[in-house]
Amino acid sequence: MRKKLIPAILLVSSVPAILFSAGCKKEPPGNSATATFGAYDTEPDWNDTSKLIKLGYAESQGKHIFYTYCVWCHADATPAGPSNRSNLTPMPPLLNDGDKLNGESDEYLQNMITLGGGALGKSEMMPPYGKTLTPEEIKSVIAFARAIAQPPYQKPGRPGSAYAPK
Ligand code: HEC
Repeated sequence: MRKKLIPAILLVSSVPAILFSAGCKKEPPGNSATATFGAYDTEPDWNDTSKLIKLGYAESQGKHIFYTYCVWCHADATPAGPSNRSNLTPMPPLLNDGDKLNGESDEYLQNMITLGGGALGKSEMMPPYGKTLTPEEIKSVIAFARAIAQPPYQKPGRPGSAYAPK
């Protein structure tokens, strides 16, 4: 009798936890009118502008910085018309270029943006932003790049897991 009672108590005591977690779903159930609910901002997928990518807080801060400082070289279209990208050699990668950037670590990108291309043996055409932007602001631009990456960016797994960076 006692032995059967314990699992029953465990079951009953887990009910509130199940109900609670059901109430915390991240995605709102919704139609297109509520599709951006819970996001700070959105960005069209550059490869398919019919799709909107939801941005979290840091990512939306990074979007603002990108469209202030980086869009002129790292996108083809800017708020002021065509960009300067195709005039540069080497041509800067599009910020959503997952094929190029997904394999690069956050640390590497942080250094590249802070110190500029010249400091890392790359093109001097990539300016250093360490005196213009704070480390947090640079982190947020990287978060924005990760959010819009195509193919999508997968966070590296914990060291030792099958998904850890090579
Ligand atoms: C004047 C043009 C210009 C501006 C403005 C600019 N970049 Fe760049 N960026 C470049 C060029 C050119 C390269 C390529 C360097 C190379 O490969 O030698 C580059 C490379 C990079 C890379 C490295 C990519 C890689 O795979 O190594 C990152 C990351 C990057 N830029 C981010 C940014 C961010 C973020 C901003 C804005 C804060 C920015 N850039 C502003 C021209 C620019």
